[in-house]
Amino acid sequence: MRIAMIGGGYVGLVSGACFAEFGVDVAVVEVDPTRLAALREGRMPIYEPGLEDLVKSNVAAGRLTFGADIAEAMNGAEAVFIAVGTPTRRGDGHADLSYVYAAAEQVARAMTGYAVIVTKSTVPVGTGRRIAEIVSATRPDLEFDVASNPEFLREGNAIGDFMKPDRVVIGATSERARATMQRLYAPIAATEAPILFTGIETAELTKYAGNAFLAMKVTFINEMADLCERTGADVLEVARGIGLDARIGARFLQPGPGFGGSCFPKDTLALVRIAQEAGAPSRLVETVVAVNDARKSGMAARIITLCGGAIRGKTIAILGLTFKPETDDMRDSPAIPIVARLAEDGAHVRVYDPEGMDAARPLLPPSISYCRDAHDAAKDADALVLITEWNQFRALSPTRLATEMKGRTLIDLRNVYDPAAMRQAGFTYHGIGRP
Ligand code: NAD
Ligand code: UGA
Repeated sequence: MRIAMIGGGYVGLVSGACFAEFGVDVAVVEVDPTRLAALREGRMPIYEPGLEDLVKSNVAAGRLTFGADIAEAMNGAEAVFIAVGTPTRRGDGHADLSYVYAAAEQVARAMTGYAVIVTKSTVPVGTGRRIAEIVSATRPDLEFDVASNPEFLREGNAIGDFMKPDRVVIGATSERARATMQRLYAPIAATEAPILFTGIETAELTKYAGNAFLAMKVTFINEMADLCERTGADVLEVARGIGLDARIGARFLQPGPGFGGSCFPKDTLALVRIAQEAGAPSRLVETVVAVNDARKSGMAARIITLCGGAIRGKTIAILGLTFKPETDDMRDSPAIPIVARLAEDGAHVRVYDPEGMDAARPLLPPSISYCRDAHDAAKDADALVLITEWNQFRALSPTRLATEMKGRTLIDLRNVYDPAAMRQAGFTYHGIGRP
């Protein structure tokens, strides 16, 4: 079987490499010359654990290729996946579908025979139908189907999530499209992952509903953390206490500085707009967006208060910049507003992130110092703030930190440290939602 994948980013590259691993011939098309050059030279344009080995072995086996020419990639392809970005459109919160529609038009021009055109990108309800209209208008002669196959992988765990998903959702209207998708997903179906066949609109909405629900769960526990701080309860125990109820579930109940990333923020916002336009507004999701935005922008004020109220001239060390560990993705990271505000208020900000520093540079103020490692960042700092819970930060020795830092304020926005051990080393420790 042969497929084309339009877009070689987090989703296109991971899913293309995973399909290749399952024995499919995959031609990835990438328009960004820097990303394409890296891929052709065997360098990964993104950081994702395990990806480099997977890509290299499938390139060596001749099942995975990279190019810029859609027509070449489409040659003999039974399905073409659109995996381009759908960022928030400037001004109105809608998903910007210009990349998706441009790709659909390019695909239509390049097609030589029947293929299923599949949206892997997260797209609002109605996009599949619009793609069908674009393709028909561009090439009235073509025989094709449109399908929606939203992706549920998480960055940092993308290969595992793709190869062993909780479920696969496929929205398709013709038997021919369903049969093609079924063959493609046969290796995953063999792992007993449920493959759900739905209508196109249902598949499109399922993706947004899933992300919104998870974002709501995170926002809920963040509010409970605030309540714990006012009442002396411990949010970690509350999360465990409710999470053991199988109807609630233990995952996505870790409080923090607010959700970030390339998906939850933009997808909750897009769902708000989709629901408003459909005349069925979601006040829950609207509130999740507002509460999370306020949390992210308020986090810096909390840090400033914990640093004694004035930070001008103080040195603040920041551990972790990416929106979560095991990725280099800085999109909508809570670190961006935090670092910007600390710098604006006159602090010397020393940052370290294992993979995110290159992506962070254009997004952070120029006055920031980029450090070699956590210890370098902590040097002479008045306060240390952990924003992203990379594993390498979990094992830092409190006594060594105490010798490196000037001050004794430790602000742990992910609750990774043992408060008692930190206090014993002389730190004033502040977690999230813990007494
Ligand atoms: P990304 O920006 O990393 O990758 C998109 C790539 O597509 C870019 O490299 C871009 O240059 C390329 N591109 C754009 N137009 C093109 C064209 N016409 N031809 C060839 N290449 C083109 O984005 P991403 O994170 O991979 O997300 C892609 C989509 O998948 C989004 O809709 C996102 O919401 C969704 N999604 C992302 C994740 C995730 O974890 N990142 C998970 C599930 C779903
Ligand atoms: C999320 C979803 O988990 C994926 O299923 C989905 O495919 C993807 O969005 C998408 O649509 O692109 P991702 O953004 O990679 O994946 O990361 P998550 O692990 O979901 O984390 C999102 C944000 O929530 C991060 O900022 C993280 O720190 C935060 N979070 C998550 C918490 O604060 N607490 C938690 O318990 C879980």
